[in-house]
Amino acid sequence: MIDPFGRSINYLRVSVTDRCDLRCVYCMSEDMTFLPKSDLLSLEELDRVCSTFVKLGVRKLRITGGEPLVRKNVLNLFENLGRHLKTGGLDELTLTTNGNRLAKYSEALRTAGVKRVNISLDSLNAKRFKAITRWGNHEKVMDGIKAAKAAGLKIKINTVAMRGVNEDEFNDLVAWCGDEGFDLVFIETMPMGNIDEDRTDQYLPLSLVRADLSRHWTLTPINDNTGGPARYTRCAETGGRVGFITPMTHNFCESCNRVRLTCTGTLYMCLGQDNAADLRTPMRASEGNELLSQAIQEAITRKPKGHDFIIDRRHNKPAVGRHMSVTGG
Ligand code: 5AD
Ligand code: SF4
Repeated sequence: MIDPFGRSINYLRVSVTDRCDLRCVYCMSEDMTFLPKSDLLSLEELDRVCSTFVKLGVRKLRITGGEPLVRKNVLNLFENLGRHLKTGGLDELTLTTNGNRLAKYSEALRTAGVKRVNISLDSLNAKRFKAITRWGNHEKVMDGIKAAKAAGLKIKINTVAMRGVNEDEFNDLVAWCGDEGFDLVFIETMPMGNIDEDRTDQYLPLSLVRADLSRHWTLTPINDNTGGPARYTRCAETGGRVGFITPMTHNFCESCNRVRLTCTGTLYMCLGQDNAADLRTPMRASEGNELLSQAIQEAITRKPKGHDFIIDRRHNKPAVGRHMSVTGG
C-alpha cells in the first residue's frame, strides 16, 4: 500500500487494550476512565484485521497498549499471528511493554515467534521509578527484563526524557544497556491526552540530551533502520546502539511507514492527527474480508503528511485528545 505522499505502508501497530497496570505521569492521569470491555474487538477480530493487513502488504506487526500483557488471553493472539511468520507473510511480530508481566510471558512469547521486545524503563532507581510510574515496582520490571533476556528476546529499552526527572541518569542508562547488550532509545514527551501535570515542565528536547551524552560517549550516526521512527547512533565505548525518537524537534513524518489500530477497531493514520477510519463496522458487516480490505485501502489514501505537535506555554492543551495508550506507542 502506497499513501498519497509516496510512502509505503508496511507497518501496523495494534493497541489491544487501552488499560495499563501502571500510571506513568507523562502518559496517564491517576484516575483514568477506560473503555468498557464490551467495546473491544475480540481477539479473533484483532487477528482478522491484522491478517487482512498482512494480506495487503504489511510486513511488521507491533502489539501495544496500554499494556498489551494485561489483556486476557493475549498470548493466543501472538500464537495465532505467529502463523504469518512461518508462511513468510510477515517479517516481524513484536510488542511494546512496560515489562511488568514479562517474567511470566517471555518464554511463551519467544515460542510464538516474537524475537524482539521494546520495554519502557525511565529510571534505574527504584524510588524514582515508582514516582514516574506511580504504581510500578522496579524490582518486578527488572525481573521481567531478565526473563526476556534469558528467553533470548532482543531488547530495546525505551526511555522518555524528562527535564528534572531522569536527565541525570542518561549516562548510566547508556552504560547499563551497553553492558546488557540492549539497544536504548530516548523519546521526547508528546502532547497526547490530558495528564495531571504540566507538560512544559517535563519537555526536554533530545537535541540537548544528545549534546550532553556526546560529552561522555562517542556516538556515531548509523543507518540501521529497524522500521520505526528512531534515528540510531553507535556508541563506540559500549558497542551498543543508542537511538533518538524526536517527534518534537525533528519532523519524523517524512519516512513514516506505519498506521495504528485501536482496540475498538479505529484505524489512525497518524499518531498526531485525528484522521481515522472505522474498521469494526465493515468487518462485522460480512463474514468475508472484502469490505474490511476496501476500508483499509480507502483509509491509506487519507494518510496525512504529518503531525502538528507543539509544546510551549501558549499551547498547554494536548495536540490530540486521546492518550498514547489509546492509539498505541
Ligand atoms: N510522550 C512520549 N512518550 C510516551 N509514551 C507514552 N506516552 C507518551 C507521551 N505522551 C511512551 C512510553 C513507551 C512508548 C511506547 O511511549 O513510555 O515507552
Ligand atoms: Fe502504562 Fe506505558 Fe502509559 Fe506507562 S507509558 S502508563 S506503562 S501505557
